[in-house]
Amino acid sequence: MKRFPFRMVPGFLKDSVARNLRQPRGGPVGWLVNKVVFEDKNKGLEENAVKLCNISKDDMVLEVGFGPGIGIHEAFMRIKDGKGKVIGVDISEKMLEKASRKLRSEIRAGKVELLLANVAKLPLDSDMFDHVFHCNCYYFWDDQVACAEELRRVMKQGAKIVTVLNEEALMVGNESGILKYGNTNKEHYMDSLKKAGFHNIDYQKLKSERGNPFSAIFAVK
Ligand SMILES: C[S@@+](CC[C@H](N)C(=O)[O-])C[C@H]1O[C@@H](n2cnc3c(N)ncnc32)[C@H](O)[C@@H]1O
Repeated sequence: MKRFPFRMVPGFLKDSVARNLRQPRGGPVGWLVNKVVFEDKNKGLEENAVKLCNISKDDMVLEVGFGPGIGIHEAFMRIKDGKGKVIGVDISEKMLEKASRKLRSEIRAGKVELLLANVAKLPLDSDMFDHVFHCNCYYFWDDQVACAEELRRVMKQGAKIVTVLNEEALMVGNESGILKYGNTNKEHYMDSLKKAGFHNIDYQKLKSERGNPFSAIFAVK
């Protein structure tokens, strides 16, 4: 696969991409990051995260860092005929605006709720969720143990958290500097899950239906 020639990109532009990956703020660079990375490159990852959750129609589902809302819509498709609900949290006002526009009928129907909130302090009751998933997000949590503890708090006993990542893309992102505002180290993340009290922490290298490699980390409350 041909790699994007990041070394040709001026430093200030790379820095803007890096900032928009951590917290999309709009503008031309934010627009491009959303179009090229979130809505195109990451679409399959979001779909696979939802698939791995095994959601049933009456389940309560949480996505952290929903970006443009692809995973939220995918999860909604699995609960739309039941009593289930999908809640999403993100710290980006731009992403909240964008996803809310795209999912307005699902929100109006009361099946989807999107909140401007940090995973470090969720405005949600304890023991609510059957499933939690996130995609390309833990890298940007300032204190991964505290965030994992907060997620564990809102999960039902026995519920599973699913984390998906594309390690090839992370390697390129780290080498080029566009992930400099995050910590993608999966061992550190898995250790944080363990410190937060999760068990059955399991890392798997998988392939999508189209044969694209990706990785998933599972953990149980
Ligand atoms: C790289 S983007 C990924 C978006 C989408 N999940 C995807 O894979 O395309 C990271 C997203 O996580 C959000 N985010 C970063 N830190 C967060 C935090 N502490 N709490 C909630 N959301 C966060 C960002 O605002 C952004 O929308």
